[in-house]
Amino acid sequence: MPDSSSPIYLDNAATSFPKPPEVGAAMHRLIQEISLSPGRSAHRFSLAASRVIFEARELVADFFGCPDSSRVVFTSNVTEALNVGIFGLLQPGDQVLTTGMEHNSVMRPLRYLEKTRGISLTILPTDPSGNIDPDDIPRQLNAKTRLIIINHVSNVTGAMADLGAIGARKGGALLLVDAAQSAGVFPLDMEAFGIDFLAFTGHKGLFGPTGTGGFLLRQGLVVPPLTMGGTGSNSELEEQPQLMPDCHEAGTPNTVGIGGLAAGLEYIKKTGRDTIRRHEARLTRILLEGLSQIQGVTVYGPPPSDTRGAAVSLTMDGKSVADLAFLLDRNYGIMARAGLHCAPAAHRSIGTFPQGTLRLSPGFFNTEGDIRTVLAALDQINATR
Ligand SMILES: Cc1ncc(COP(=O)(O)O)c(C=O)c1O
Repeated sequence: MPDSSSPIYLDNAATSFPKPPEVGAAMHRLIQEISLSPGRSAHRFSLAASRVIFEARELVADFFGCPDSSRVVFTSNVTEALNVGIFGLLQPGDQVLTTGMEHNSVMRPLRYLEKTRGISLTILPTDPSGNIDPDDIPRQLNAKTRLIIINHVSNVTGAMADLGAIGARKGGALLLVDAAQSAGVFPLDMEAFGIDFLAFTGHKGLFGPTGTGGFLLRQGLVVPPLTMGGTGSNSELEEQPQLMPDCHEAGTPNTVGIGGLAAGLEYIKKTGRDTIRRHEARLTRILLEGLSQIQGVTVYGPPPSDTRGAAVSLTMDGKSVADLAFLLDRNYGIMARAGLHCAPAAHRSIGTFPQGTLRLSPGFFNTEGDIRTVLAALDQINATR
């Protein structure tokens, strides 16, 4: 039986683990050394906290090709960021184009607005791997299309949307990108891809802690805030200030988390995003090739390639995906996720609804040995069906 003495984490699509040691160290330092209420007072601690947030904003702007860091807004995760974009940008009567691969953090607000505000939804179909055809976009655009919402990399199949081709076909609509699975691994340049609203989460490929995320707004685009309150600026006003980013950042921010996110970004810069991408691509290739040798295993998603995310979904004949995840954890110390991965639409698209899949999602800190171990474990489970 493969060695289960040291657990193997293969659930990086949920949240990356471990984090680089620099992330914890930065957070520890911040909570020990400074009070954490930026922009509220003029004393040295408050100024130091403001600097932490400012520097993180600059790093994020640079990372995503945004020329002005005041267009970067921090939220507590990508779900909150997506809600700001979806609720803020859509008016009754608007049409939204989205895909059959979206996460519920997009689908649930859209379905709510469809029911309550008369938004019309057009879902672009996908092939069985989860790829959309960008040429479908111009065929669906009309004068009412306000927003195109695209999941850059699927958390179910790893399929990557061609943002360059999509941006070139968006017509008069705004392009909103859910970069939850791609940020930190694949190049994402707002200007180059024509992205108007880019939503990211901090705790996956960016190596920040949970409770961090945000969005970047294209210059000139105004989105009303979802949350209003104290910002530390324009305190004489009883109305929410218009100023970016304060307008979207009411309430005391997560300074420790944002400082940790900045350390994660620094780590990626130091390591090289392409080094991370190549390592994950290599592990994914080994995993996919190994799975193809196990009879009775069906893999969903694109073949190995440089433009494929690391999430790998599979089913095994004669075993439920819940059993597979349970056996991997209990008998082999391997942590994976089973089910719908908060993306029922994606499972409908690839034909695995409602049972879902077992998802293995390697990350930068996994090794080839980890992948060989999970392959051996699945082989063994398969042999005992
Ligand atoms: C594609 C996608 N969108 C949105 C989310 C939601 O992320 P968070 O829970 O950080 O808001 C996830 C996380 O699983 C995801 O994979």
